[in-house]
Amino acid sequence: MKICCIGAGYVGGPTMAMIALKAPGIEVRVVDMNAARIAAWNSDTLPIYEPGLDDVVRQTRGRNLHFSTDIHGAIKAADIIFVAVNTPTKTYGVGMGRAADLRFIESVARTIAEHANGTKIIVEKSTIPVKTAETIKDIIAANARGWKCEVLSNPEFLAEGTAIADLQMPDRVLIGGERTPGGEAAIQTLVDVYAHWVPRDRIITTNLWSSELSKLVANAFLAQRISSINSISALCEATGADVDEVANAIGKDSRIGSKFLKASVGFGGSCFQKDILNLVYLCEHFGLPEVANYWESVVRMNDWQKRRFSSRIVRSLFNTVAEKKIAVFGFAFKKDTNDTRESAAIAVCRDLLAEQARVVVYDPKVPAAEIRADVLGKGAEDPRLSVATSAYAAAEGAHAIAIVTEWDEFRHLDYEKIFKSMHQPSSIFDGRNILDLKKLAAIGFRVHGIGK
Ligand SMILES: NC(=O)c1ccc[n+]([C@@H]2O[C@H](COP(=O)([O-])OP(=O)(O)OC[C@H]3O[C@@H](n4cnc5c(N)ncnc54)[C@H](O)[C@@H]3O)[C@@H](O)[C@H]2O)c1
Repeated sequence: MKICCIGAGYVGGPTMAMIALKAPGIEVRVVDMNAARIAAWNSDTLPIYEPGLDDVVRQTRGRNLHFSTDIHGAIKAADIIFVAVNTPTKTYGVGMGRAADLRFIESVARTIAEHANGTKIIVEKSTIPVKTAETIKDIIAANARGWKCEVLSNPEFLAEGTAIADLQMPDRVLIGGERTPGGEAAIQTLVDVYAHWVPRDRIITTNLWSSELSKLVANAFLAQRISSINSISALCEATGADVDEVANAIGKDSRIGSKFLKASVGFGGSCFQKDILNLVYLCEHFGLPEVANYWESVVRMNDWQKRRFSSRIVRSLFNTVAEKKIAVFGFAFKKDTNDTRESAAIAVCRDLLAEQARVVVYDPKVPAAEIRADVLGKGAEDPRLSVATSAYAAAEGAHAIAIVTEWDEFRHLDYEKIFKSMHQPSSIFDGRNILDLKKLAAIGFRVHGIGK
């Protein structure tokens, strides 16, 4: 059995490494048009940071896991072709700002049609709008020379930061396919791949459209919980309730559950916002404006929460941050990843720069060039934005610290030492509610949490 995966990103790399680890008899080839990314996968410094990933790649690379730019060769050789390319929100034309941009998916379908030389199973790993499988099939049917394909949907539910644990022991693997003899056989082939390590009762099979839609709905529900608790955080700040206490109290109800109830500066990441907007677009397309508005409010609440955090900083620093130094701790959209896509830190830094603050960012995994490019745009410079190599250096002489990513190291810093190095009075804005604010207040900090 030979598998190829087109797209060596946050999904393609780790998922294929796990298949290679758990199914040593399967040859796995991960290909990408980005030569620099492939070179990094073949080096000692992998292009993405994910706890435990180095170890899995070390065990499998060169054995049954290979990274290459030879997309055509990999397509020819493979029995199963996973498609894990990016599907960002469209930034132009019809559906701009909402619909998924499917140009990468379409171009992959055309490449497969051109270079495949026999029957293939094509697996949608990317998150895509409902009915994309039909598009892939149509393109292939129109271009293939006498061979057939089956298209399956197998959305990925891993979370960045815990990808390896999630892949090792997934809550479920979802496989959607056509309920025809050919479709059923293809589903069974993919079930057999996962059955190398995933208990059979965790492998769910559905029709194609249920599978495609389930991924969008899963992300919408997860993000909805965050926006729900974030909306309550504003009410807590107004009333004197503590949002962590409220979350704890409601989370004990087994019908609600305790996960994804942490109030924060807002969710980020490449998926939540784009997938909800995609769902919104689908609802609009199918003439369901009430449903579209309902889900869009999850994104609107998140935007408001990010703005609210920056405004609170300005308000608490006597309504002006002009020329004040603000240390931003963390830039990745969550801990244990170097991914900054849609990170709340980008919005916070931009808001503070617009108020003419001097912003100094420190993140343990995100390179300085990435931080500058994300905040200012590629190649742009602003002397007010700088990047420090440690939290201590970032805080030196600052008027305030804003915790934007919940990196563990921020819990264990010497805050007395930091306090002494700062401009007085000094403030901490804990955008992730990870610090003991009472202790910090005892040191002398003016403290602000989310929903506190
Ligand atoms: N990141 C996540 O946590 C996550 C989780 C679940 C699902 N997803 C979904 O998985 C998909 C991939 O996400 P990602 O975060 O891995 O994206 P990514 O941007 O990290 O990786 C995508 C890769 O595909 C490559 N690519 C694009 N077009 C190509 C082509 N025509 N030929 C060869 N390579 C091509 C790009 O060069 C890039 O390296 C998206 O649809 C996303 O929504 C992501």
